[in-house]
Amino acid sequence: MDIKGEQVTVPRHVGIIMDGNGRWAKKRLLPRNAGHRAGVQRMEELARHAQDIGVEYFTVYALSTENMSRSKEELDGLYSLIRSYFTKSVDELYKRNAGVRILGDMSPLPADIAEKLYEAEARSPKDPSFHFLFAINYGGRAEILQAVNSAALLAHRDALEGRPPQKYTDESFHGLLYTHGVPDVDLIIRTGGEERLSNFLLYQAAYAELYFTDVLFPDFDCGEFDKALLDFSGRDRRYGKIRSGE
Ligand code: IPE
Ligand code: IPE
Ligand code: MG
Repeated sequence: MDIKGEQVTVPRHVGIIMDGNGRWAKKRLLPRNAGHRAGVQRMEELARHAQDIGVEYFTVYALSTENMSRSKEELDGLYSLIRSYFTKSVDELYKRNAGVRILGDMSPLPADIAEKLYEAEARSPKDPSFHFLFAINYGGRAEILQAVNSAALLAHRDALEGRPPQKYTDESFHGLLYTHGVPDVDLIIRTGGEERLSNFLLYQAAYAELYFTDVLFPDFDCGEFDKALLDFSGRDRRYGKIRSGE
């Protein structure tokens, strides 16, 4: 792909830590939830752009396990945005042959939202050309722990049935994570100025390239996204090896 005359490598899987909504609202003397609302609009625009330029997997960090302890007022605002997105906007995704995946533990969410999320996954096209993954009540540690607990249950069943416990490989362990079947994330973008992962895709980010920007998420437009791709294109992904020819 070409951006402003420069050749860019389009990452197969992009993850975005959509941070800075609250500060964006505060700067405008608006309530925090107005920042989240502006963030949802930005997210929709970026997803369309990512699909248009050939990204195949697009994961957004919408709500972390730690965010669940924010005020009731803020969580109610976030829930109503999630509710409305999954009521009004998913059909548009399906029309574009995009599929929905939810990463996270749905059980503590209000029951109607959990139901909508299950339904959004179930109604997704069978062979989507773009995978839109929403991390909601997601934490990398919680994800790894639930995989370990599933592995322990499987080992228990094997023991009861007289089979030796199975040895996990990277691939079979990945099969127990929320992201089963999804290729590792290639590029993680974090807006809002902080330079940390905050519990996002801990297992999957082993060799991800990280891109940090001070731009607050509601201001992170497609031009800013393209800048991140240009930066990514210049990275030398060695995966522990040495550069070819050296
Ligand atoms: C990120 O924006 C979105 C969520 C965590 C839901 P913040 O709400 O963390 O915004 P800041 O960091 O306070 O500006
Ligand atoms: C990370 O942002 C979580 C999401 C964007 C959903 P936070 O604002 O929660 O992260 P910290 O608290 O600054 O690490
Ligand atoms: Mg934040």
